[in-house]
Amino acid sequence: MISKYKVSVLFVCLGNICRSPTAHGVFQSVVDESALGHMIGVDSAGTSDFHIGSSPDPRSVAAAHTRGYDLSELQARQVQIEDYKTFDYILAMDDSNLSHLRRDCPSDFDGRLGLFLDFAGFDEREVPDPYYGGSDGFSHVLDLVESASEGLLCQIEREIEG
Ligand code: 4NP
Repeated sequence: MISKYKVSVLFVCLGNICRSPTAHGVFQSVVDESALGHMIGVDSAGTSDFHIGSSPDPRSVAAAHTRGYDLSELQARQVQIEDYKTFDYILAMDDSNLSHLRRDCPSDFDGRLGLFLDFAGFDEREVPDPYYGGSDGFSHVLDLVESASEGLLCQIEREIEG
């Protein structure tokens, strides 16, 4: 149960089979290696219902595997209204998904809703959708996600340590 954690993070893209599972697996790994791992919960979801119940795209699984991340156990789900009660951070991969999340966001949501790359050391604001492209796209997603994961962990560590 995600509610047992002090801080919880939900990563969101369109299908929940490429970008957000990559963010989920990479950030989970970064969290597991940190001293505060037991305090941080991680999940991912899609704004669409296109791939509910599916495993991550095999190209995302393979690209992540080359860097030591295991995405194979993840399963796509759609964002639910309850997620706004459960999660402290809801982080979108791009502006389109952020707009969707903002549209559905209850007025009493008191977490942080924004773009994941706000925490990265890159100029790019959005994680580009690799679904219709070649393998370079999946590797680029990993570069962006690894950087943002480090930045997000630093932010949460500051928050927890007060
Ligand atoms: P994701 O990529 O949002 O990063 O999971 C996509 C996956 C599937 C589709 C689009 C984007 N699709 O149109 O099926």
